[in-house]
Amino acid sequence: MCISPLLFFSFILSAFVGHGETAGDANAFSPRPADTTIFEGEGGSYRSWSSSNFPLLGEAKVGAGILVLHPHGFALPHYADSNKIGYVLQGSCSVGTVSSSASEEKVLRIREGDAIQLPNRLISWWFNGGDSDAIVVFIGETSKSQIPGEITYSSLTGTVGVFRGFSTEFISKAYNLSQDEANTLVTSQTGAVIVKLDEGIQIPQQQNDIGNFGEFVSTVATADKFLPLEQVGLSYRPVKLGKSAVFQPIYATDSVQVTYIVKGSGRVQFTGTNGEILLNATVQAGELFVVPPFLVAIGIADGEGIDYVSVITSSRPVIWHFSGSTSIWKAFSPVILQASLSTTPEFAQIFLGKDDMKHNSHALESRLDEL
Ligand SMILES: *[C@@H]1O[C@H](CO)[C@@H](O)[C@H](O)[C@H]1NC(C)=O
Ligand SMILES: *[C@@H]1O[C@H](CO)[C@@H](O)[C@H](O)[C@H]1NC(C)=O
Repeated sequence: MCISPLLFFSFILSAFVGHGETAGDANAFSPRPADTTIFEGEGGSYRSWSSSNFPLLGEAKVGAGILVLHPHGFALPHYADSNKIGYVLQGSCSVGTVSSSASEEKVLRIREGDAIQLPNRLISWWFNGGDSDAIVVFIGETSKSQIPGEITYSSLTGTVGVFRGFSTEFISKAYNLSQDEANTLVTSQTGAVIVKLDEGIQIPQQQNDIGNFGEFVSTVATADKFLPLEQVGLSYRPVKLGKSAVFQPIYATDSVQVTYIVKGSGRVQFTGTNGEILLNATVQAGELFVVPPFLVAIGIADGEGIDYVSVITSSRPVIWHFSGSTSIWKAFSPVILQASLSTTPEFAQIFLGKDDMKHNSHALESRLDEL
């Protein structure tokens, strides 16, 4: 096997670049907020990043959206065409799931800072029994989705429920119901997607503790390391950076990195394989950016610091660090480093020493560590 790595680089890059924009202006890589309201009602809303406005999502085969559940908001049981994680940005809610292999519904309460794995084989519902909004960001891998770059949902019930399309004759045969009963089954729920439940309705709060739910929920992750989420083939890490701290420069060879800014703001730069700058932009809370394979990204937090959550589209990502204790620079013998940088041995030592100072990502703490 001798495919030149450089050829491979250019191949990957040409798939992503070539829009002819300059790094300073908005370009194909620019961070951006969710742009499309998929649903909005009394119970809450769902907004997404559309691949038509953000074509990089389709090219990189990832997708994302934000669910807001108002108090008593209930997202009707649904399934999605993508494996994804849900990360709770604010508040708390109950999630009920049913999988094709389990006959029983599982219910779990999740709160700010929790992440839940949602394989596409699960059907789930979401309910906010609290008195303030619950907000969850979903980030998924969309290589098998109907619309590349987007997570498409199907509700089981409601005015856009999957049964709506069938004629009552089929429904009555399938369930052995009269025509009237079949009609009731399909049309009683006049809401769609997210409804507001009456106060009296008792939604199951939690049957399973997190231990039993371990296969789906991760409440422990460290900022230094991506946590593998085997159920969905993704990895994630929640990161909190202090004032002016640097996001560790990394690149992933086999996967795409999707980052959502939870709080604060900063500046990000991406470079391509020839060292050309592809993006030089500010990022702020509510924005999402996507780093394709082989591009190197660095970020710097502004004065108030920045919190973000990054998802990588592999549960075993191959990630190269360019700084910190696992920096690739440390792997080289001193003479190679010195010759490659064309510096004096003293400078090479200073460089490695500075790199060792862990001024960057090691100042991080996982937001989850605080819980
Ligand atoms: C269908 O329902 C009718 C009346 O409720 C009942 O007599 C019949 O046995 C049912 N058929 C099946 C296949 O369950
Ligand atoms: C990046 O943007 C900043 C602020 O606009 C500017 O000062 C800097 O020169 C830019 N750097 C590059 C390499 O384009």
